[in-house]
Amino acid sequence: ASVVKVGLLGVGTVGGGVLKTIRSQQQKLSDRLGRRVEVVKALVRNAEKQRSVPIENNLITTRFEEVLASDVDIVVEVMGGVEPTYGYVRALIEKGCHIVTANKELLAKHGTELVRLANRHGVQLAYEASVAGGIPILGVLRQFLRTNDIVSVSGILNGTTNYILTRMEQEKLPYAEVLKQAQELGYAEADPASDVEGWDALYKTYILAQLVFGESLPLHAAERQGIEKLHLGQIGLARELGYRIKLLAKASKAGGGLQLSVRPTLLPLDHPLAQVQDAYNAVQVSGNIVGDLLFMGKGAGELPTASAVVEDLAYLLTQRFTPQPVWQESEPAGNREAGEKRC
Ligand code: NDP
Ligand code: HSE
Repeated sequence: ASVVKVGLLGVGTVGGGVLKTIRSQQQKLSDRLGRRVEVVKALVRNAEKQRSVPIENNLITTRFEEVLASDVDIVVEVMGGVEPTYGYVRALIEKGCHIVTANKELLAKHGTELVRLANRHGVQLAYEASVAGGIPILGVLRQFLRTNDIVSVSGILNGTTNYILTRMEQEKLPYAEVLKQAQELGYAEADPASDVEGWDALYKTYILAQLVFGESLPLHAAERQGIEKLHLGQIGLARELGYRIKLLAKASKAGGGLQLSVRPTLLPLDHPLAQVQDAYNAVQVSGNIVGDLLFMGKGAGELPTASAVVEDLAYLLTQRFTPQPVWQESEPAGNREAGEKRC
């Protein structure tokens, strides 16, 4: 049987999970695709590091040029960050490789150019794992909520901060200690400031807005507040008053203007989003036909994220190329002249 040759950028928490999943689900993948899926080259920074998965000879390299020169059909980018990742992904698209990425920062900062480039080169750019970890929310929005007018999409989009808020409330542990736990569990970004300052949730909100509204706001125009200044006293007081603090992210188009926000929010204890604990995420979508929908699942961690990556990869391989809608950024409503209308 023929083989799908996969390149992997990054063998950390997610990359290790992707290798494990491709190996453990090989039979199912082969049955579905009629081809074996084989990871033939994997890029890391430090070739000597101990990995969570067995690594066969010649798989690992520290030179991107080796991945570029290898005969791969598709590349999974799970190394994170913007530099040098953006240049690598561009080079791979220009070479004609399909890309599967979990990198929300890259997409929120360069998605417009990457979608355009992928369309121009006739390759697919897939990014289900970039928003809400294991919850297949992008596929649902893209395929099954297209006739609805979506009023808003909101929810808990960062597993690290939700884990921190849960543990601080339940175990009265100080912020720094639970952040360390979240890092050890593989939930946090390489620089956890991205999680606790609300950037990571904002990147995901930006991507959701592109899918739902066909446009997003420049990141600097969004409202963003993190949880890094919250302390045990505030969390305890909220609880005494019948509330729970959650880092809520929202994209909405009320009154014509698009708004993106990420901020700590007081939710009544019986609110569905107040029930979302630990590294779980939840996405609430309000559509004019369907009403309110709530999707919940693990938003971070090795296997939930690998699930999204591998499902994305397999789905991509069953699809013919069609160009994606271009991504656009609109001016924030406040920046427009009085009386000026968007057509
Ligand atoms: P890790 O830090 O665990 O892994 C990163 C991997 O990329 C490591 O193998 C590292 O090599 C390699 N790497 C990083 N920079 C370079 C570089 N410049 N050159 C070569 N190799 C490099 O990250 P995660 O697996 O946690 O996250 C990866 C991506 O997935 C990020 O974009 C993240 O936002 C996203 N994501 C993460 C989730 C999670 O739960 N962790 C969930 C959803 C998305 P080495 O091992 O040698 O250091
Ligand atoms: N650091 C991210 C989080 C990983 O905690 O949600 C998943 O995108």
